Amino acid sequence: MFEPVTIDTKRLRLRPLRKEDASAFFEMWSDPETVRYFSFPPMQDIEQAHARITDKLQSSSNGHSVTCVIESRDTGEVIGDCGLFNGVSLSRRAEIGYCLGRKYWGKGYMAEAADALIEHGFKQAGLHRIEADIDPRNLPSIQLIERLGFRREGYLRERWLIGGEVADTVLYGLIQSDRY
Ligand SMILES: CC(C)(COP(=O)(O)OP(=O)(O)OC[C@H]1O[C@@H](n2cnc3c(N)ncnc32)[C@H](O)[C@@H]1OP(=O)(O)O)[C@@H](O)C(=O)NCCC(=O)NCCS
Repeated sequence: MFEPVTIDTKRLRLRPLRKEDASAFFEMWSDPETVRYFSFPPMQDIEQAHARITDKLQSSSNGHSVTCVIESRDTGEVIGDCGLFNGVSLSRRAEIGYCLGRKYWGKGYMAEAADALIEHGFKQAGLHRIEADIDPRNLPSIQLIERLGFRREGYLRERWLIGGEVADTVLYGLIQSDRY
């Protein structure tokens, strides 16, 4: 379904994930505030970041997902990632996920990156529908997904068990005809 891709936006470059990105992502994935609503607890060891990157690279090599590292075009810094995953080719459907390092929040970077990724998903990858599974307490993510045009479609109770805590899901969807 997906191939690695490089996309330039006004301020950002989205480029394929590499093994050497582990230290930048360990900084994000070990920050309790950043991964507060993720499906794993904060990482303790850089080996966990290596393992997660290896999983992502594996899933992208078989075409089920695409992960884009987000870099600042000004400085070249890695500021986060966004991607499409859990692709279901027969239904031309996938989920969107995203994360920014804490110091990059509140600048509109993810709106810019995710908009470009969604465009790629519909236009180049031929998706019909994109879903987002969000913890209802994650207000920045809910605001972002609603600004991107997703509609709230459902509420799934206690869908996740993360580090001994149960978490609900609010499910959002965007279909091609919502956008074009
Ligand atoms: C979810 C997440 C990516 C949202 O980041 P964000 O910076 O709030 O989102 P955006 O990139 O859309 O930025 C929007 C904010 O930037 C502000 N902004 C500043 N300059 C802007 C610009 N040029 N264009 C647009 N917005 C701009 C907006 O006013 C808005 O601020 P507000 O939320 O105070 O109203 C971020 O909180 C994050 O990485 N969280 C941790 C990981 C996570 O939870 N991922 C989602 C799991 S479902």
